[in-house]
Amino acid sequence: MKKKTSLKDIAEKVGVSTALVSYVLNNKKKGRINKEVASKIKAVAKELNYSPNQLAKGLRTNKTNTIGLIVADIANPFFSSLARILEDEAEKHQYTMIFGSSDESAEKSWKLINVFLNRQVDGLIIASAENTEDHVQYLQEQEIPFVLIDRYFPGLSTNYVAIDNREAAALAVQHLQDHGYRRIGFITYASSLFNLQERKKGYQAALAKHNKPDSSEWLKELAINHLPGAVGKAIDELLRLPEPVDAIIFASNTLSTIGLKYINTLAVKVPEDVAIISFDESDAAHLFYAPLTHIRQPLEKIGQEAVQILLKSMTDKTKITQHNMSAELVAGKSTAPVLSKP
Ligand code: RIB
Repeated sequence: MKKKTSLKDIAEKVGVSTALVSYVLNNKKKGRINKEVASKIKAVAKELNYSPNQLAKGLRTNKTNTIGLIVADIANPFFSSLARILEDEAEKHQYTMIFGSSDESAEKSWKLINVFLNRQVDGLIIASAENTEDHVQYLQEQEIPFVLIDRYFPGLSTNYVAIDNREAAALAVQHLQDHGYRRIGFITYASSLFNLQERKKGYQAALAKHNKPDSSEWLKELAINHLPGAVGKAIDELLRLPEPVDAIIFASNTLSTIGLKYINTLAVKVPEDVAIISFDESDAAHLFYAPLTHIRQPLEKIGQEAVQILLKSMTDKTKITQHNMSAELVAGKSTAPVLSKP
């Protein structure tokens, strides 16, 4: 079956964003779009026999009582736990949840959005991947109800439910400071995702408050698709500094799970040699010989509120609800107060 031309095909051929193509083909923002570009877009749409996705144009005639959920990786315990909470809340309102993993890929996320729209979902809940602002703008243009969870785009006026990541990172630093740790490392992903950016900024601001204005030597940023061994290498670098760190904060469960496995291969004791905190609960957090101090995100509240906001936006498209919830720090043995060190 010949593949239907999508907005993305036109955007790629013309070399503009999907959102701009949508504006032109839906006659939106006329006064603000270069006339030559607009003509080029229309010509390419004709050349490629583009026919608007009638289902996505809000011309759908009936509800399906389904919601599309896009998370980074459904196999990640954080997202699978959240997906289950979302699914249960949706079911309370007679909605079925269908979901897919974006693998933090904008292209895969766009594919899932189109699959879900063609399946006539009544709304979407999305943990946005990097560089998907134009997808969000497209959904807004098509008046498709949606809520962003876990990470969002502060420059776009959208529904979202997340935690205050900057506050959570500062909580972790303060806890370590209160327990006598002073040289605090931070291992995260090199990512433009807003939640990770906020964690890094919260860490840096908290250290600056504790007379460490430049914490760059203690900060390790890994590629999202980091090579095996990259987490171990980052730990080695932090522990081999002339003045080694005495604590490490991992910015996610995926990083801390790999990190703890590596630390177990070293002659390093937690917390005696290095204290550990991680974002997110995980089995590793509880089963580790020094149960991990971690930042617990209020997944129940996030999931329930995201579904409720989505249902409201299905009847009132003008109302935007944005909520950054507070996370909590769960103290464990991995950050026991440092005994008086020489
Ligand atoms: O791997 C799960 C982590 O990344 C969580 O901290 C969540 O915020 C996600 O973005």
